[in-house]
Amino acid sequence: MLIDNHGRPINYLRLAVTDRCNLRCFYCMPEDGLNWLSRKELMSYEEILRACTLLVNMGIKKIRITGGEPFVRKDIMKFLTALSKLEGLDELSITTNGVLTAPYVKQLKQIGVRSVNLSLDTLDAGRFFAITRRDEFGVVMHTLDELLKHDIAVKINAVVMDGKNTQDIIPLVQLTKDMPVSVRFIEEMPFNGDGQIHETRLSWDHVSILNEIENAYPQIQKLTDPEYSTSYNYHIPGHKGSVGIIAAYSRTFCGTCNRIRITPQGTLKNCLYDDGVLNIKELMRLGKNDDTIKDYLLTAFNNRVKDGWVAEKLVQHTGMHESMAAIGG
Ligand code: GTP
Ligand code: 5AD
Ligand code: SF4
Repeated sequence: MLIDNHGRPINYLRLAVTDRCNLRCFYCMPEDGLNWLSRKELMSYEEILRACTLLVNMGIKKIRITGGEPFVRKDIMKFLTALSKLEGLDELSITTNGVLTAPYVKQLKQIGVRSVNLSLDTLDAGRFFAITRRDEFGVVMHTLDELLKHDIAVKINAVVMDGKNTQDIIPLVQLTKDMPVSVRFIEEMPFNGDGQIHETRLSWDHVSILNEIENAYPQIQKLTDPEYSTSYNYHIPGHKGSVGIIAAYSRTFCGTCNRIRITPQGTLKNCLYDDGVLNIKELMRLGKNDDTIKDYLLTAFNNRVKDGWVAEKLVQHTGMHESMAAIGG
């Protein structure tokens, strides 16, 4: 088992396979997109598989594929199929925007993907367009149906944005009445890729989101949260699904942080809020062998900062944050 310098187990890798995306959610990237990475800058599938093999041998048990949007990368299913065969990996899951996902659902089920997290910030087609700058609401809802039809557990991720979709909180909670989904409301984080310094006070934090839900559903009950959960979870009696709140900005769960990240360009991040601590791709391209890379990784894991606040403070470019698509969420 991998344990960091604060006694926290590390068993969860969030792996971003591309920075590209077919939506333009304003909380994630500018309307014109980003300066996409070139093929050479991206980690190749072979390099990613090598890194994952090493990390699974070291103690990683769960890999979540993120992006950008994973399904815009060519041959993603071939890659996922190979990854799903890694011995020692207990769980492979995906976070997707659901635009290109529906045709792959059956195959995902076949390779053993048991849960998918779907980004969906509103149930209103007009607001979906205003937030994502693309007209794809119907397609995403179809993906949701397909996932449930194939008995894949679904968590819906909704970023809560002041003045944009707070009127969607209750309708999204209502979705859990007849659908066995977990709807999770996420505090907005300052990762929208515009290079601007943002004010740090959130008007919709986890407390105000919960207040809003409790006002509409006073009968709501707290659930016991799974180990290492980022969400506080709740259930409304009589509903098939559940509700979660992720204090992604308030960072209340760092004390049990079990996760590391690899960005599309092969940078290891010990924390979502850090600047990257090691470039695994470069080590591979310099011809380092597995044992050497493992030593670098162990050193990095022994130097994790205590929480996302410290990580953020250490970041050089004070206050300016990159796009979530370049990190993987
Ligand atoms: P599960 O594996 O289902 O627990 O997923 P998850 O919540 O870890 O992943 P998902 O990709 O669905 O992310 C949901 C939201 O939580 C996104 O906005 C992430 O950026 C945020 N999030 C995930 N992990 C962390 C983390 O370690 N720190 C912070 N601050 N936010 C995180
Ligand atoms: N703040 C909070 N969550 C975000 N996501 C993307 N950008 C942000 C942001 N600025 C979420 C997406 C996706 C998950 C991986 O990260 O909604 O579901
Ligand atoms: Fe871990 Fe950083 Fe997220 Fe805290 S903010 S849970 S330390 S990744």
